Amino acid sequence: MDFKEYIRVIPDFPQPGISFKDITTLLMNGEAYRKAIEELKTMVGDLKIDVIAGPEARGFVVGAPLAYALGVGFTPIRKSGKLPYETIEADYDLEYGKDKLAMHVDAVKEGQNVLIADDLLATGGTISTSVNLIRKLGGNVVGAAFLIELEDLKGRDKMPGVDVFTLMKYDH
Ligand code: PRP
Ligand code: MG
Repeated sequence: MDFKEYIRVIPDFPQPGISFKDITTLLMNGEAYRKAIEELKTMVGDLKIDVIAGPEARGFVVGAPLAYALGVGFTPIRKSGKLPYETIEADYDLEYGKDKLAMHVDAVKEGQNVLIADDLLATGGTISTSVNLIRKLGGNVVGAAFLIELEDLKGRDKMPGVDVFTLMKYDH
């Protein structure tokens, strides 16, 4: 399946010069959505995974169904102030903006194998911050899976040693 057929590209959103990759058009198509998750499942098939961590918000629509398909747990990485229990936090830079990410202190146990999942790898800010949070909790990041990678932004260079799996690649 050519998954790119289901991605709607919106020029100059949310800022001039950004070519936004809208995944809602893929999510709306039941067959494309299911096949995308199944394909990611195949790509990470050789990894030993205990839990999938997905950054809010779009990481939930990739990470949760992938966790369900693999029969493993899911844990959310959220923007600051959203998680009710004790958290650890880290600052990060976005492709366009700044924020803080947080995880519950018991979201990942020492030695657990964690796969990170998100919709998009752009600058890698979100994911490298997620990697840092998981490692701080004692987790072992076994890989990172995305629907889309924007290759020119070289996000994967921000997390040496982490295997990156992507369904679709765009230049930027
Ligand atoms: C977007 C996207 C990725 C991240 C990629 O999330 O869903 O998580 O940016 O960019 P990066 O590789 O440069 O960090 P965003 O923070 O816009 O929020 P959302 O998922 O809540 O829409
Ligand atoms: Mg996101």
